[in-house]
Amino acid sequence: MKGGGTAARAAELRRLLERANHAYYVLDKPEISDAEYDRLFRELQELEAKHPELRTPDSPTHRVGAEPAAAFKKHRHLVPMLSLANAFNEVELTEWEDRNARLVPEVRTAGYTLEVKIDGAAVSLTYEGGVLATGTTRGNGVEGEDVTANLRTVVDVPLRLKGRNWPKRMEVRGEVYFSKSRFAALNREREQAEEPPFANPRNAAAGSLRQLDPKITRARRLRIFCFHIEAPGQKLPVDTQHELLEQLALWGFPVEPHHTLVPDLARAHHEIVKLGELFPTLDYGADGVVVKVNPLKLHAELGTVGAREPRWAIARKFAPEVQITKLLEIRINVGRTGALNPYAVLEPVEIGGVTVSTATLHNFDLIEAKDIREGDWVEVTRAGEVIPQVLGPVRERRTGKERKFKRPERCPVCNSKVEYPSDEVMAYCSNVSCPGRILESIVYFTAVMDIRGLGYERVRALLDAKLIKDVADLYELTPMKLLTLEGFAEKSAQQLVDAIQASKKQPLSTLLHALGIRHVGAGAAKLLARQFGTMKALRNASVEQIAAIRGVGNAIAEAVAGFFDEAKNRKLLERLEKLGLNFKEPTATEGKGPLAGQVYVVTGTLPSLSRAKAIQLIEAAGGHVVDSVSRKTTALLVGADAGSKLERAKALGVQVIDEAELLRRARAKP
Ligand code: IVH
Repeated sequence: MKGGGTAARAAELRRLLERANHAYYVLDKPEISDAEYDRLFRELQELEAKHPELRTPDSPTHRVGAEPAAAFKKHRHLVPMLSLANAFNEVELTEWEDRNARLVPEVRTAGYTLEVKIDGAAVSLTYEGGVLATGTTRGNGVEGEDVTANLRTVVDVPLRLKGRNWPKRMEVRGEVYFSKSRFAALNREREQAEEPPFANPRNAAAGSLRQLDPKITRARRLRIFCFHIEAPGQKLPVDTQHELLEQLALWGFPVEPHHTLVPDLARAHHEIVKLGELFPTLDYGADGVVVKVNPLKLHAELGTVGAREPRWAIARKFAPEVQITKLLEIRINVGRTGALNPYAVLEPVEIGGVTVSTATLHNFDLIEAKDIREGDWVEVTRAGEVIPQVLGPVRERRTGKERKFKRPERCPVCNSKVEYPSDEVMAYCSNVSCPGRILESIVYFTAVMDIRGLGYERVRALLDAKLIKDVADLYELTPMKLLTLEGFAEKSAQQLVDAIQASKKQPLSTLLHALGIRHVGAGAAKLLARQFGTMKALRNASVEQIAAIRGVGNAIAEAVAGFFDEAKNRKLLERLEKLGLNFKEPTATEGKGPLAGQVYVVTGTLPSLSRAKAIQLIEAAGGHVVDSVSRKTTALLVGADAGSKLERAKALGVQVIDEAELLRRARAKP
C-alpha cells in the first residue's frame, strides 16, 4: 500500500472504531459485532506498528494503555476548577436563591437545571481542534496532575469530538466514577489479593486515576459523566446549562441522563425529592443534586465567591440521619441465589420521616467485624439513597446480657447445610429448591418481566396455596384459580392473568434477565441475546464462545453454561417455550420500521402502556428513545402528571403526542 492510502485507511479505522465505541458505551446501542471490532482494532494496531508516524493522539489504540510514567506532570487549568457550596435542606436552598436575587433579580424566574451529583473524582479534559489533548485531575483547583494517558483508557472519554461547532480550545469538566457493581467487584478482588478495600467509590476513582501505569487504570474500568465547559474568550453554541448538556452529548460526551429543567425553585424542591428517590436504582454513586441557574449569561453576572465556588450552582445534599435504637434479633432471609442475607429486627425508630423496624446487616463477616450482638444498642442510618443499615453497636451501653452472633450451619428456611465458599463473603443455602429461594426468584422474575400486580405478597400467597411451584406455573393460572385466594375479585383476577399472558411477548433479553442466572443482569442479558438471537443458539454455545463477547467475562459465561447444564432448568425452559414465551431477540430495527430515524421522549403515566413497554414499542418500530427533550426530538409522548418535559417541549415547539397517537404511528407502514 502507498503512504497516502495507508494514512487514509488508518484515519478511517480510527473513525470506525471510535464510532463503534461511542455506540457501545455511550449510546448502549452496539453497531458492530465484537469480532468485527477486534478485527478493525488489530488492523489499526498493525498499521501503526509499521508506520509509527501515523499514530495520532486520538487513536483508539491508546486506550489499551501507554507505558508507565515515572511521575505526573503538573497542569495549570485554563480556568480554576471550583467546588460547590452545599445546601442540606429546602431552607438553605431558598436562602441561596435569596442571596443571588439580591445581585441578579432575574434568577427567580430564569429556571434551574437539576443534575445528579456524581460521587467520583473531578477531571478536566482539554480539547484542541476537537481532539483530546490533555486530561487532568482537579488537584488544588488551580493546578492538577496530567493524567492524559490514564484518561485515554476510560472507554467513554471521547478522543475526537463529533460535529464541528466546538470551540477551538476548551476544557470539559466531568466526574470519573465507578459503577456500583464494578466498585463491589474491585473490592472483592482486593480482599482476595489481601489488599485493603477502598472506603468508597470516590477514593477508588481518584486512586485509579493516579496510577503511574495506565494499564492498571484501564483494568479498573472507570467511566465518566461530563457537565461543564470552560472556553475563555470563545463563543459557545448554547445559551443555557440545559442546552449545554445536550450539546455535550451531541459532541459525544456521556451526560448523566436524569437531568431536568424546572421553571423555579418551588418546582425544584419537588423534583429534587424525586431525583433522590431514583438514586438507589442508579448503577453509580450519587451524593446529591446540583442545582444550576439555567441561562449562562446569568452565570457571568453572578460570578464566584472568592475563587472557590460559583454563585450560580449549589449542591443539594441529603444528610443521612443516624438514630440509636435497640437491636432485638438477628434474622436471616434467603435470597434468590440462595445467599443468606442477615438483617436486624429493631425496636421501631423514626429516621428521616420514616419508621424503620428492620435494617440490613449485609453479611456474616460484617456482623463479626463490627461485633454486632443481639440486644445491643446500635446506630442505624437511612442515607437518602439506601435501605436502612446498622452502622455498629454503642459499646458503652452494653450490659453484658447481649448475645454474640453465631454463624448458622443450617438454612433458617429449609434446614439444609449452609455453604461458605472460601472466595466470597456471602454464605449460601445448599438446597436449590429451598422455598425461600424459590419465593425470591419468582418475585424477581415477575418484576423483570414487568408483570404488574404480582409482587412479593401475592407470589407468597400463590406458593402457600400451592397454585404455583415455579415461574412456568404462572402462565397456567386462570381467573378461576386466582378467585380461590383472598383479595381477588373477578376483575382483578382477569387483569392479573392478562398481565401474565402479556409478558410472554417480552424479548429474549428480558427473559434471560428474569431467569436470575447468576451474574446475568440486564446488561449481560442484552449482550447475550443480541449475540445469539435465540435461546437455542445460546444453549448450544460453548463457554468459550460466550466469554468471547465483549463485555461478557468468564464468570458470566460459566454461569450461563452451568444454568443450561442443569436438567431442571432445561425442563423449565422447555415448558416455558411450550407455553408460548418468546425465545427470540428482535433483530436491530434501526433504519427500518415506521419510526426509523425518529427520536422520542416519554414522560408521565400513560393510560395503558407501562414506560418500559412504550420504549420497547418505539424501539421495535425503529425509533430511538432519549431522556430529555431537545430541538432534535421528533415528539414528546405524554401521559398523566407530565412535568417539566412538557413545558420544555412546548417552549421548543416540539410535537406532543398521546399514547393513542403513538400506537397509530408505530403500526403504520413505513
Ligand atoms: S458543577 C463550576 N455538576 O462535585 C462547576 N459538579 O462538590 C462546578 N460534581 O468539583 C461543578 N457532578 O467534581 C457539577 N453535575 C455536576 C456534578 C459535579 C459531580 C462534582 C464536581 C465538583 C464537585 C463539587
